[in-house]
Amino acid sequence: MPAIGLGTFGSDQVSAAAVAEAVKGAAAAGYRHFDCASVYGNEREIGAALETVMKTGIKREDLWITSKLWNDKHADVIGSCRQSLADLRLNYLDLYLVHWPFPNFHPPGCDVTSRSAEAKPFIHVNYMKTWREMEKLVDMGLVRNIGTSNMTIPKLELLLGDARIKPAVNEMELHPHFQQPELFQYVVENGIQPVGYCPIGSPGRPERDRTPEDTAPTEDPVIVGIAKRHGIHPAVVCIKWAVQRGQIPIPFSVHHYRANLEGVIGPPLSDQEMHQIAAIDRRCRLIKGQVFLWKPDQTWEALWDMDGNITPP
Ligand SMILES: NC(=O)c1ccc[n+]([C@@H]2O[C@H](COP(=O)([O-])OP(=O)(O)OC[C@H]3O[C@@H](n4cnc5c(N)ncnc54)[C@H](OP(=O)(O)O)[C@@H]3O)[C@@H](O)[C@H]2O)c1
Repeated sequence: MPAIGLGTFGSDQVSAAAVAEAVKGAAAAGYRHFDCASVYGNEREIGAALETVMKTGIKREDLWITSKLWNDKHADVIGSCRQSLADLRLNYLDLYLVHWPFPNFHPPGCDVTSRSAEAKPFIHVNYMKTWREMEKLVDMGLVRNIGTSNMTIPKLELLLGDARIKPAVNEMELHPHFQQPELFQYVVENGIQPVGYCPIGSPGRPERDRTPEDTAPTEDPVIVGIAKRHGIHPAVVCIKWAVQRGQIPIPFSVHHYRANLEGVIGPPLSDQEMHQIAAIDRRCRLIKGQVFLWKPDQTWEALWDMDGNITPP
């Protein structure tokens, strides 16, 4: 799996056409890994871009394409995967992820801002029904690997106990202000590759994902100081730190993808700089998932099993 990928969630600010242009530009610059999802609403445009990319001499086997099953499609895993394949103009995916462990949270469609009356909590036996269909995708040759996203240690423990095909990847929020050391260590020890989303702290994330207590890793004095010393942008420091730590960052960018890749290839951060960054973890989760809550009086901590209750009533 390539050590860096291009994120493709354009938030509410970047059009599908602009993201598709970035995919073409990034492939020309050297990116081979693209992190897609049906809910991002741009897989058709990215599919056309990938077709163009593959006419420039880059072969399908050189690329790593990820897509994800959205929450309203847990009952139709195979159909949803086939739709992403058709939109992306591919006959297999390198990786297909269960985007969130919360099925049936929304009415059909991709509206993540509204809550559904059908909202249900994570229930392991239900997740396993979804996972069995994910395993079938591998058997059918539609996907090479399957994985999870937004999981916690208690949820992964249950899955690892019952899975026939283990998750190859857990995609999770990871940046210098949210390092998740326990989950990071757990997935690595279990042979699961950590992929880090929001590696720069997602400065362009939608309003629904902002709270007053959020912090910005690119404004942290330690990151800013290291950036000055290396003559690079603080965002690039975050990406270098991620790669050197052993997670695969998937920064979104329509303007800076070249600098981000050059940053990964350029001179490494020193051990001392890596230690300095390890010490600035503020345990500040940015993507809290508030829109996935199933009861009006809940707080987002319940989604991440922080109340110690894995299967709430
Ligand atoms: N599995 C999940 O549940 C999940 C959740 C969230 C995200 N994701 C994935 O992770 C990807 C990345 O997360 P994200 O998009 O939220 O946040 P991010 O990658 O942390 O931040 C992207 C923002 O940083 C800016 N940026 C990138 N490189 C920069 C640089 N060198 N200098 C200055 N600014 C720079 C980009 O602006 P420009 O465009 O102007 O360069 C963009 O506004 C998403 O696109 C998506 O693929 C997955």
